[in-house]
Amino acid sequence: MANDVQLSADGKLQHLLHIEGLDKTLLTQILDTAESFFNHADGSIVKKPVLRGRTVANLFFEDSTRTRSTFELAAKKLDADVLHFDVKGSALSKGESLKDTLQTLQAMHIDMFVIRHKENEIPIYCAELVGPRTAILNAGDGNRAHPTQALLDAFSIRKHKGGFEDLTVTIVGDIRFSRVARSQIAVLKTLGVKTLRVAGPDSLLPEDVSAMGVEVHRNLDDAVSDADVVIMLRVQKERMDSDLIPTTDAYFAEWGLTPERLKLAKADAIVMHPGPMNRGIEIASEVADGPQSIILDQVTNGIAVRMAVMSLIMSGRH
Ligand code: ASP
Ligand code: CP
Repeated sequence: MANDVQLSADGKLQHLLHIEGLDKTLLTQILDTAESFFNHADGSIVKKPVLRGRTVANLFFEDSTRTRSTFELAAKKLDADVLHFDVKGSALSKGESLKDTLQTLQAMHIDMFVIRHKENEIPIYCAELVGPRTAILNAGDGNRAHPTQALLDAFSIRKHKGGFEDLTVTIVGDIRFSRVARSQIAVLKTLGVKTLRVAGPDSLLPEDVSAMGVEVHRNLDDAVSDADVVIMLRVQKERMDSDLIPTTDAYFAEWGLTPERLKLAKADAIVMHPGPMNRGIEIASEVADGPQSIILDQVTNGIAVRMAVMSLIMSGRH
């Protein structure tokens, strides 16, 4: 883990690269700031022009629906100018390096880069490259980190459950290749979740799982039993060299969240998924669309959480 290039000497957020290294006070400040962007009368997200005159560039080297769109909406609600950099149509295809690309864009007076990349640690490399003048926000790198997803998940849990200290939270599925799982574990441990469980087939548990400070379950019924929050993860086929899961039907039979299995959790348990979902592989449609699902609310909350991260980073730079 990079020693915290993401924090200034006085502990202010300069970049958001990963959750590790951010303490409970800072994480809570991000959630509280996100909360302040909601109009509680009608649930809408307010506009606040705190990024007026600033420019945010979205650089997605890997596809995205939610993260890219909500970063763009968040930046616009803060009144920033937003540059959507089209990786596929760029001079990268002529062999221009990432470094030259970033420095070229930086010369256009970009204040913040939102970066998603399939390789681990690219956002750290970018943060070291651009220096303190420009912020890097990690929108997901390899299987390493997806900090804003984990923050919006924590925000959603707090909104629906009121806190963290009394909760049993179960994260199910492809823990090994999921950057979301790693960031969720970091955020939920720091925020003080009482019992944090992970569950999945052996082939999809990371080698260092026993050192992660979580309960490890190899049976879905046990893992879901009496849980307050059940988070389902997509099988990250694009990151697997070989077929690490049996057929999708067999995976669903053993690891899919069905209405019957959900009954083992607390009666008021909530179901989450970062998306995109593989219906019928890790989650049944009846659960995904059912009354306990907060999956679409997670998406909405992502706008406010990304507004919070961007505004806190900018205020820390003044
Ligand atoms: N969208 C999330 C990510 O980019 C989760 C997923 O793709 O399964 O990591
Ligand atoms: N949850 C998430 O990161 O979704 P996208 O890949 O659509 O951005």
